Amino acid sequence: MSKKLKLAIIGGGQFSASFIHLFQAHPLVAEVALVEPNEERGKITSAKFSIKDVFASLDELWNSDFDSVAIFTPRWTHAEIALAALKNNRHVYTAVPMGITIEEVTELVKVAKATKLTYFMAETSYYYPAVVYARKKFLNGDMGQFVYGEGEYLHDMSHGFFDAFAANGGDDWKASASFPPMLYSTHSTSTILSVTGSHAISVTCLGLKDSITDGIFDEDVSMWQNNQSNQIALFRNSDGGVMRIAELRRVGTAPLEPTVRMSIFGTEGSFEQQVGYASWSTKNSFDIVTDEINTWSDVENPYSLQKDFISPNKWDGGFARIHDRSALPSSFNGLSNGHGGSHQYMVHDFVMDAVGEKPAPMNIDDAARFTTPGIVAHQSAISGGVTMPIPYIF
Ligand SMILES: NC(=O)c1ccc[n+]([C@@H]2O[C@H](COP(=O)([O-])OP(=O)(O)OC[C@H]3O[C@@H](n4cnc5c(N)ncnc54)[C@H](O)[C@@H]3O)[C@@H](O)[C@H]2O)c1
Repeated sequence: MSKKLKLAIIGGGQFSASFIHLFQAHPLVAEVALVEPNEERGKITSAKFSIKDVFASLDELWNSDFDSVAIFTPRWTHAEIALAALKNNRHVYTAVPMGITIEEVTELVKVAKATKLTYFMAETSYYYPAVVYARKKFLNGDMGQFVYGEGEYLHDMSHGFFDAFAANGGDDWKASASFPPMLYSTHSTSTILSVTGSHAISVTCLGLKDSITDGIFDEDVSMWQNNQSNQIALFRNSDGGVMRIAELRRVGTAPLEPTVRMSIFGTEGSFEQQVGYASWSTKNSFDIVTDEINTWSDVENPYSLQKDFISPNKWDGGFARIHDRSALPSSFNGLSNGHGGSHQYMVHDFVMDAVGEKPAPMNIDDAARFTTPGIVAHQSAISGGVTMPIPYIF
């Protein structure tokens, strides 16, 4: 029988609240603790999930017997915390992104490989039904050779970002709300790269200087001196194909449709996704496959085991038909899911890897493969679109 994990959630803010109950319900997790420097938030979150071990600092955690961590801290802090965790002999689950500099990614790859501990970057897009569908087609050979792919994350600042940054940034919240879009591009890059298995080798990225006068993308205020709110990049990949990624933070699109979309074209077949629509075509056939990749809130879903969970919107609901739920633990039945059906898979895949039962479908190399392109793309954008080589860190 596998050893059970003792796992500490690092960061008791908004996002971790969608995962703590899943870690607690997993049969191979013995106990869940919380690290949260904000005392009031630590009290609220630990009470909500009946967590008895609450640490005020990482040093307290390193002195405990909790052997694994799940990082849900602000996006620019992940690499430093993950490195400290690995160096303190802890398995790491982390929200995206892996890091925001080439140096951080390089060091993480080096240390994770030296320690042989689990490092799992929880990329929700990997499990999105559209991506699962396209990956199956590609791996079956139905797509032929990769020609061109589009991955995009369209998330307007007014759709939750103002509140999320304001809740934690205090009076200075605008300084961090200007996070450069391409530094948060793994949701998009992973759509194509997780299908093809290749890596990006060069990039040209164009950024749009923000024109809205709410003081967010203001280089004098921004922690990253960033004045670009929308960035669009063109990559050459190692398989010879071309990938276009759009990271838009000022854009007039609806909030409840999939904010991450992908289309991918091969020499034999192509998958195309738009709002409320998806299709699969070959040189002599065409099928609308929207129903395959819709996630269903559980009251609507005829295949659901989660009869008592009602999702606020279809996208964040239970599962899509394309999802294979057979490997998930039965203790997850009836528990919430989210982000296109990804939450339950991410928790399960990490735990199974960390206890040595089954390698996760994404490892440290995949995390680097998905993260590095955006870091270089941002450099290209602030250099006016100069084409830059992308290091392959593995
Ligand atoms: N689709 C996705 O993959 C997805 C979606 C939402 C959020 N996220 C990511 O999840 C992360 C968390 O997002 P959120 O909305 O919960 O943020 P949040 O700001 O609500 O919560 C972060 C928490 O981390 C705590 N914290 C900060 N520094 C810490 C430290 N050194 N040790 C312990 N705790 C610390 C803060 O006090 C805060 O409570 C972000 O990186 C975000 O980008 C990913």
